[in-house]
Amino acid sequence: MAWIGGAYSDSRVSAQTTLVLPADADGVARAVGLLRDGQPVALPTETVYGLAADATNGEAVARVYAAKGRPSFNPLIVHVTGLTMVRDLVEVPPAALDLMARFWPGPLTIVLPLREGAGVAGLVVAGLPTLAVRCPDHPTTQAVIEGLGRPVAAPSANASGRISPTRASHVLESLSGRIPLILDAGPTRAGVESTIVAVEDGGVRLLRPGSVPPEALNLAPDAAPAGRIVAPGQLASHYAPAQPVRLEAVAAAPHEFHIGFGPVPGDRSLSPSGDLAEAAANLFDILYAAQASGRPAIAVAPVPAHGLGAAINDRLRRAAAPRE
Ligand code: TXA
Ligand code: MG
Repeated sequence: MAWIGGAYSDSRVSAQTTLVLPADADGVARAVGLLRDGQPVALPTETVYGLAADATNGEAVARVYAAKGRPSFNPLIVHVTGLTMVRDLVEVPPAALDLMARFWPGPLTIVLPLREGAGVAGLVVAGLPTLAVRCPDHPTTQAVIEGLGRPVAAPSANASGRISPTRASHVLESLSGRIPLILDAGPTRAGVESTIVAVEDGGVRLLRPGSVPPEALNLAPDAAPAGRIVAPGQLASHYAPAQPVRLEAVAAAPHEFHIGFGPVPGDRSLSPSGDLAEAAANLFDILYAAQASGRPAIAVAPVPAHGLGAAINDRLRRAAAPRE
Protein backbone atom coordinates (compact mmCIF):
# COMPACT_ATOMS: atom_id res chain seq x y z
CA MET A 1 0.00 0.00 0.00
CA ALA A 2 1.26 3.47 -0.77
CA TRP A 3 0.32 7.06 -0.02
CA ILE A 4 0.00 8.65 -3.46
CA GLY A 5 -1.06 12.24 -4.00
CA GLY A 6 -3.40 12.29 -1.02
CA ALA A 7 -4.99 8.88 -1.57
CA TYR A 8 -4.03 5.36 -0.65
CA SER A 9 -3.47 2.94 -3.43
CA ASP A 10 -4.59 -0.52 -2.40
CA SER A 11 -5.50 -3.22 -4.84
CA ARG A 12 -8.09 -4.70 -2.43
CA VAL A 13 -10.34 -1.65 -2.78
CA SER A 14 -12.09 -1.40 -6.11
CA ALA A 15 -12.36 2.06 -7.60
CA GLN A 16 -15.84 3.49 -7.25
CA THR A 17 -17.73 6.76 -7.36
CA THR A 18 -18.18 8.37 -3.95
CA LEU A 19 -21.59 10.05 -3.63
CA VAL A 20 -22.04 12.94 -1.20
CA LEU A 21 -25.69 13.33 -0.15
CA PRO A 22 -27.34 15.67 2.34
CA ALA A 23 -28.07 14.01 5.67
CA ASP A 24 -31.86 14.07 5.14
CA ALA A 25 -34.41 11.24 5.13
CA ASP A 26 -33.44 10.13 1.60
CA GLY A 27 -29.76 10.15 2.49
CA VAL A 28 -30.43 8.13 5.63
CA ALA A 29 -32.46 5.56 3.65
CA ARG A 30 -29.67 5.26 1.10
CA ALA A 31 -27.10 4.78 3.88
CA VAL A 32 -29.20 2.09 5.57
CA GLY A 33 -29.56 0.24 2.25
CA LEU A 34 -25.81 0.26 1.63
CA LEU A 35 -25.03 -0.85 5.20
CA ARG A 36 -27.51 -3.74 4.77
CA ASP A 37 -25.57 -4.71 1.63
CA GLY A 38 -22.34 -4.83 3.66
CA GLN A 39 -20.94 -1.54 2.32
CA PRO A 40 -19.16 1.13 4.38
CA VAL A 41 -20.75 4.60 4.62
CA ALA A 42 -19.30 7.82 6.05
CA LEU A 43 -21.61 9.39 8.64
CA PRO A 44 -21.46 12.62 10.67
CA THR A 45 -21.24 12.45 14.47
CA GLU A 46 -20.90 15.26 17.01
CA THR A 47 -17.11 14.64 17.15
CA VAL A 48 -15.75 13.70 13.72
CA TYR A 49 -17.11 11.90 10.64
CA GLY A 50 -17.05 8.11 11.06
CA LEU A 51 -16.74 5.36 8.47
CA ALA A 52 -19.56 3.01 9.48
CA ALA A 53 -20.21 -0.66 8.78
CA ASP A 54 -22.71 -3.17 10.16
CA ALA A 55 -20.82 -4.36 13.25
CA THR A 56 -22.21 -7.88 12.92
CA ASN A 57 -20.97 -8.34 9.33
CA GLY A 58 -17.31 -9.34 9.15
CA GLU A 59 -16.98 -8.63 5.44
CA ALA A 60 -18.45 -5.17 5.86
CA VAL A 61 -16.00 -4.42 8.67
CA ALA A 62 -13.14 -5.73 6.53
CA ARG A 63 -14.13 -3.16 3.88
CA VAL A 64 -13.73 -0.39 6.45
CA TYR A 65 -10.22 -1.55 7.35
CA ALA A 66 -9.34 -1.82 3.65
CA ALA A 67 -10.75 1.60 2.72
CA LYS A 68 -8.80 3.25 5.55
CA GLY A 69 -5.65 1.20 5.09
CA ARG A 70 -5.96 0.52 8.82
CA PRO A 71 -3.70 -2.02 10.55
CA SER A 72 -5.93 -4.96 11.38
CA PHE A 73 -4.83 -5.00 15.04
CA ASN A 74 -6.55 -1.70 15.73
CA PRO A 75 -10.05 -2.33 17.16
CA LEU A 76 -13.12 -0.21 16.31
CA ILE A 77 -15.70 1.64 18.39
CA VAL A 78 -19.22 0.24 18.13
CA HIS A 79 -21.99 2.86 17.98
CA VAL A 80 -25.40 2.20 19.52
CA THR A 81 -28.72 4.00 19.94
CA GLY A 82 -28.74 3.50 23.71
CA LEU A 83 -28.90 1.19 26.67
CA THR A 84 -31.10 -1.53 25.19
CA MET A 85 -28.74 -2.11 22.30
CA VAL A 86 -25.60 -1.88 24.42
CA ARG A 87 -26.73 -4.47 26.96
CA ASP A 88 -26.72 -7.14 24.25
CA LEU A 89 -23.10 -6.36 23.46
CA VAL A 90 -21.21 -5.80 26.72
CA GLU A 91 -21.39 -6.35 30.47
CA VAL A 92 -22.57 -3.08 32.04
CA PRO A 93 -21.38 -2.73 35.65
CA PRO A 94 -22.94 0.03 37.85
CA ALA A 95 -20.02 2.42 37.33
CA ALA A 96 -20.52 2.19 33.54
CA LEU A 97 -24.27 2.63 33.86
CA ASP A 98 -23.63 5.81 35.83
CA LEU A 99 -21.35 7.16 33.08
CA MET A 100 -23.92 6.31 30.39
CA ALA A 101 -26.63 8.12 32.36
CA ARG A 102 -24.45 11.21 32.67
CA PHE A 103 -22.82 11.41 29.26
CA TRP A 104 -24.96 9.55 26.70
CA PRO A 105 -25.84 10.42 24.06
CA GLY A 106 -22.49 12.15 23.80
CA PRO A 107 -18.76 11.90 23.15
CA LEU A 108 -17.81 9.33 25.80
CA THR A 109 -16.65 5.88 24.65
CA ILE A 110 -16.60 3.16 27.30
CA VAL A 111 -14.49 -0.02 27.04
CA LEU A 112 -16.30 -2.94 28.69
CA PRO A 113 -16.13 -6.75 28.73
CA LEU A 114 -17.55 -8.20 25.51
CA ARG A 115 -20.55 -10.46 26.13
CA GLU A 116 -20.56 -13.96 24.83
CA GLY A 117 -22.87 -14.25 21.83
CA ALA A 118 -22.79 -10.50 21.25
CA GLY A 119 -22.68 -11.20 17.53
CA VAL A 120 -20.02 -8.57 16.85
CA ALA A 121 -17.62 -9.50 14.03
CA GLY A 122 -14.21 -10.64 15.28
CA LEU A 123 -12.42 -7.96 13.27
CA VAL A 124 -14.19 -5.24 15.29
CA VAL A 125 -12.39 -6.14 18.52
CA ALA A 126 -9.25 -7.39 16.80
CA GLY A 127 -8.82 -10.19 19.32
CA LEU A 128 -9.48 -8.19 22.52
CA PRO A 129 -11.89 -9.51 25.20
CA THR A 130 -13.34 -6.01 25.49
CA LEU A 131 -15.51 -3.81 23.27
CA ALA A 132 -15.51 -0.01 23.00
CA VAL A 133 -19.09 1.32 22.89
CA ARG A 134 -20.47 4.79 22.30
CA CYS A 135 -23.86 6.44 21.76
CA PRO A 136 -23.31 9.38 19.39
CA ASP A 137 -25.26 12.60 19.90
CA HIS A 138 -26.17 13.14 16.27
CA PRO A 139 -29.65 12.71 14.74
CA THR A 140 -28.31 11.37 11.41
CA THR A 141 -26.23 8.59 12.87
CA GLN A 142 -28.95 7.75 15.40
CA ALA A 143 -31.47 7.48 12.52
CA VAL A 144 -29.13 5.27 10.49
CA ILE A 145 -28.46 2.84 13.39
CA GLU A 146 -32.18 2.81 14.17
CA GLY A 147 -33.00 2.09 10.51
CA LEU A 148 -30.42 -0.69 10.28
CA GLY A 149 -31.57 -2.14 13.60
CA ARG A 150 -28.02 -3.14 14.41
CA PRO A 151 -24.97 -1.42 15.92
CA VAL A 152 -22.39 0.06 13.56
CA ALA A 153 -18.63 -0.14 13.93
CA ALA A 154 -17.06 3.17 12.93
CA PRO A 155 -13.53 4.51 13.08
CA SER A 156 -12.92 8.09 12.03
CA ALA A 157 -13.43 8.43 8.27
CA ASN A 158 -9.84 9.24 7.29
CA ALA A 159 -7.01 7.22 5.81
CA SER A 160 -5.27 5.52 8.72
CA GLY A 161 -2.82 7.73 10.61
CA ARG A 162 -3.94 10.89 8.85
CA ILE A 163 -5.94 13.93 9.98
CA SER A 164 -9.43 13.18 11.32
CA PRO A 165 -12.35 14.60 9.27
CA THR A 166 -14.70 17.25 10.62
CA ARG A 167 -16.30 17.99 7.22
CA ALA A 168 -17.58 15.87 4.34
CA SER A 169 -14.90 17.50 2.15
CA HIS A 170 -12.18 16.12 4.48
CA VAL A 171 -13.62 12.61 4.05
CA LEU A 172 -13.59 13.05 0.27
CA GLU A 173 -9.99 14.20 0.41
CA SER A 174 -8.73 10.90 1.81
CA LEU A 175 -11.41 8.35 0.88
CA SER A 176 -12.79 9.55 -2.46
CA GLY A 177 -13.16 6.59 -4.85
CA ARG A 178 -12.82 4.11 -1.99
CA ILE A 179 -16.30 4.26 -0.40
CA PRO A 180 -19.78 4.55 -1.98
CA LEU A 181 -21.41 7.30 0.16
CA ILE A 182 -20.82 10.21 2.51
CA LEU A 183 -23.76 11.82 4.33
CA ASP A 184 -23.02 15.54 4.65
CA ALA A 185 -24.38 17.30 7.75
CA GLY A 186 -21.92 20.20 7.68
CA PRO A 187 -18.98 20.72 10.05
CA THR A 188 -19.07 18.64 13.23
CA ARG A 189 -19.81 20.38 16.50
CA ALA A 190 -17.10 19.16 18.88
CA GLY A 191 -14.26 18.62 16.43
CA VAL A 192 -12.12 16.15 18.37
CA GLU A 193 -12.92 12.49 18.92
CA SER A 194 -14.71 11.02 21.89
CA THR A 195 -12.98 10.55 25.22
CA ILE A 196 -12.27 6.84 25.78
CA VAL A 197 -12.34 5.30 29.26
CA ALA A 198 -12.14 1.75 30.54
CA VAL A 199 -14.29 0.76 33.51
CA GLU A 200 -12.52 -1.89 35.54
CA ASP A 201 -13.15 -3.04 39.12
CA GLY A 202 -15.46 -0.06 39.54
CA GLY A 203 -12.63 2.35 38.63
CA VAL A 204 -12.48 4.59 35.57
CA ARG A 205 -9.26 4.80 33.58
CA LEU A 206 -8.58 7.29 30.80
CA LEU A 207 -7.43 5.64 27.56
CA ARG A 208 -7.74 8.62 25.20
CA PRO A 209 -8.44 12.26 26.06
CA GLY A 210 -11.27 13.65 23.95
CA SER A 211 -14.37 15.81 23.80
CA VAL A 212 -15.41 15.12 27.39
CA PRO A 213 -12.76 17.01 29.42
CA PRO A 214 -10.96 14.91 32.06
CA GLU A 215 -12.22 17.22 34.82
CA ALA A 216 -15.83 16.23 33.99
CA LEU A 217 -14.85 12.62 34.76
CA ASN A 218 -13.08 13.61 37.98
CA LEU A 219 -9.75 12.67 36.44
CA ALA A 220 -6.71 14.92 36.74
CA PRO A 221 -6.35 17.16 33.62
CA ASP A 222 -2.94 15.69 32.95
CA ALA A 223 -4.09 12.10 33.57
CA ALA A 224 -1.76 10.46 31.11
CA PRO A 225 -3.45 7.70 29.16
CA ALA A 226 -2.18 4.54 30.84
CA GLY A 227 0.76 2.95 29.08
CA ARG A 228 -0.25 -0.64 29.35
CA ILE A 229 -3.56 -0.53 27.52
CA VAL A 230 -3.62 -1.01 23.86
CA ALA A 231 -5.75 1.75 22.41
CA PRO A 232 -3.83 1.73 19.18
CA GLY A 233 -5.07 5.21 18.23
CA GLN A 234 -2.38 5.75 20.79
CA LEU A 235 0.25 4.92 18.20
CA ALA A 236 2.78 7.71 18.66
CA SER A 237 2.39 9.07 15.13
CA HIS A 238 -1.25 9.67 14.29
CA TYR A 239 -3.45 12.49 13.03
CA ALA A 240 -0.45 13.42 10.92
CA PRO A 241 -0.42 16.02 8.12
CA ALA A 242 2.00 15.43 5.25
CA GLN A 243 4.56 17.95 6.58
CA PRO A 244 6.58 17.95 9.82
CA VAL A 245 4.87 19.70 12.73
CA ARG A 246 6.61 21.83 15.41
CA LEU A 247 4.79 22.62 18.69
CA GLU A 248 4.90 25.45 21.27
CA ALA A 249 5.79 27.92 18.52
CA VAL A 250 5.12 31.54 19.54
CA ALA A 251 6.76 32.64 16.29
CA ALA A 252 7.18 30.89 12.94
CA ALA A 253 9.76 30.91 10.16
CA PRO A 254 8.64 32.02 6.66
CA HIS A 255 8.58 28.44 5.39
CA GLU A 256 6.21 27.36 8.17
CA PHE A 257 2.41 27.56 8.14
CA HIS A 258 1.74 28.99 11.60
CA ILE A 259 -1.34 27.81 13.49
CA GLY A 260 -2.19 30.38 16.16
CA PHE A 261 -4.10 30.36 19.44
CA GLY A 262 -5.13 33.24 21.72
CA PRO A 263 -2.45 35.97 21.68
CA VAL A 264 -0.48 34.24 18.89
CA PRO A 265 -2.37 35.08 15.67
CA GLY A 266 -0.56 32.79 13.20
CA ASP A 267 -1.70 32.30 9.58
CA ARG A 268 -4.91 30.86 10.97
CA SER A 269 -5.96 30.77 14.59
CA LEU A 270 -7.55 27.85 16.44
CA SER A 271 -9.32 30.49 18.52
CA PRO A 272 -8.33 34.18 18.57
CA SER A 273 -10.09 34.60 21.94
CA GLY A 274 -8.34 31.56 23.43
CA ASP A 275 -11.56 29.51 23.71
CA LEU A 276 -10.71 25.79 23.96
CA ALA A 277 -14.07 24.53 22.67
CA GLU A 278 -13.69 26.72 19.58
CA ALA A 279 -10.11 25.48 19.18
CA ALA A 280 -11.21 21.82 19.39
CA ALA A 281 -13.90 22.40 16.77
CA ASN A 282 -11.37 24.08 14.42
CA LEU A 283 -8.37 21.82 15.04
CA PHE A 284 -8.59 19.26 12.24
CA ASP A 285 -10.01 21.73 9.70
CA ILE A 286 -7.01 24.02 10.25
CA LEU A 287 -4.59 21.06 10.08
CA TYR A 288 -6.14 20.21 6.68
CA ALA A 289 -5.70 23.83 5.59
CA ALA A 290 -2.08 23.82 6.79
CA GLN A 291 -1.44 20.59 4.89
CA ALA A 292 -2.92 22.11 1.72
CA SER A 293 -1.01 25.40 2.13
CA GLY A 294 2.00 24.27 0.12
CA ARG A 295 4.41 25.33 2.88
CA PRO A 296 6.97 22.65 3.75
CA ALA A 297 6.41 22.75 7.53
CA ILE A 298 3.78 23.53 10.16
CA ALA A 299 4.28 25.35 13.48
CA VAL A 300 1.65 25.47 16.21
CA ALA A 301 1.27 28.02 19.03
CA PRO A 302 1.09 26.82 22.66
CA VAL A 303 -2.35 25.63 23.79
CA PRO A 304 -3.11 25.35 27.53
CA ALA A 305 -3.38 21.81 28.97
CA HIS A 306 -6.60 22.09 31.01
CA GLY A 307 -10.13 21.13 29.95
CA LEU A 308 -10.38 20.35 26.23
CA GLY A 309 -6.72 21.36 25.98
CA ALA A 310 -5.89 17.79 27.11
CA ALA A 311 -7.43 16.34 23.93
CA ILE A 312 -6.09 19.11 21.68
CA ASN A 313 -2.52 18.71 22.95
CA ASP A 314 -2.76 14.92 22.69
CA ARG A 315 -3.69 15.20 18.98
CA LEU A 316 -1.01 17.85 18.35
CA ARG A 317 1.72 15.75 20.01
CA ARG A 318 0.80 12.80 17.80
CA ALA A 319 0.68 15.01 14.70
CA ALA A 320 4.22 16.17 15.60
CA ALA A 321 5.62 12.73 16.51
CA PRO A 322 8.35 11.19 14.35
CA ARG A 323 6.77 9.07 11.57
CA GLU A 324 7.37 5.34 11.30
O1 TXA B 1 -15.36 10.29 18.28
C1 TXA B 1 -14.98 9.14 18.00
O2 TXA B 1 -14.64 8.33 18.87
C2 TXA B 1 -14.96 8.76 16.51
C3 TXA B 1 -16.38 8.77 15.98
C4 TXA B 1 -16.46 8.30 14.56
O3 TXA B 1 -17.19 7.99 16.82
N1 TXA B 1 -14.34 7.49 16.33
C5 TXA B 1 -13.01 7.27 16.47
O4 TXA B 1 -12.62 5.99 16.14
O5 TXA B 1 -12.24 8.11 16.86
P1 TXA B 1 -11.10 5.60 15.86
O6 TXA B 1 -11.17 4.22 15.32
O7 TXA B 1 -10.43 6.62 15.04
O8 TXA B 1 -10.47 5.53 17.29
C6 TXA B 1 -10.90 4.52 18.19
C7 TXA B 1 -9.87 4.25 19.22
C8 TXA B 1 -8.62 3.59 18.68
O9 TXA B 1 -7.50 4.21 19.27
C9 TXA B 1 -8.77 2.16 19.16
O10 TXA B 1 -7.54 1.56 19.35
C10 TXA B 1 -9.50 2.33 20.46
O11 TXA B 1 -10.43 3.33 20.18
N2 TXA B 1 -10.23 1.14 20.86
C11 TXA B 1 -11.24 0.52 20.21
N3 TXA B 1 -11.64 -0.58 20.87
C12 TXA B 1 -10.88 -0.66 21.98
C13 TXA B 1 -10.80 -1.59 23.07
N4 TXA B 1 -11.60 -2.66 23.15
N5 TXA B 1 -9.89 -1.35 24.04
C14 TXA B 1 -9.08 -0.27 23.97
N6 TXA B 1 -9.10 0.63 22.97
C15 TXA B 1 -9.98 0.42 21.98
MG1 MG C 1 -9.11 7.94 14.13
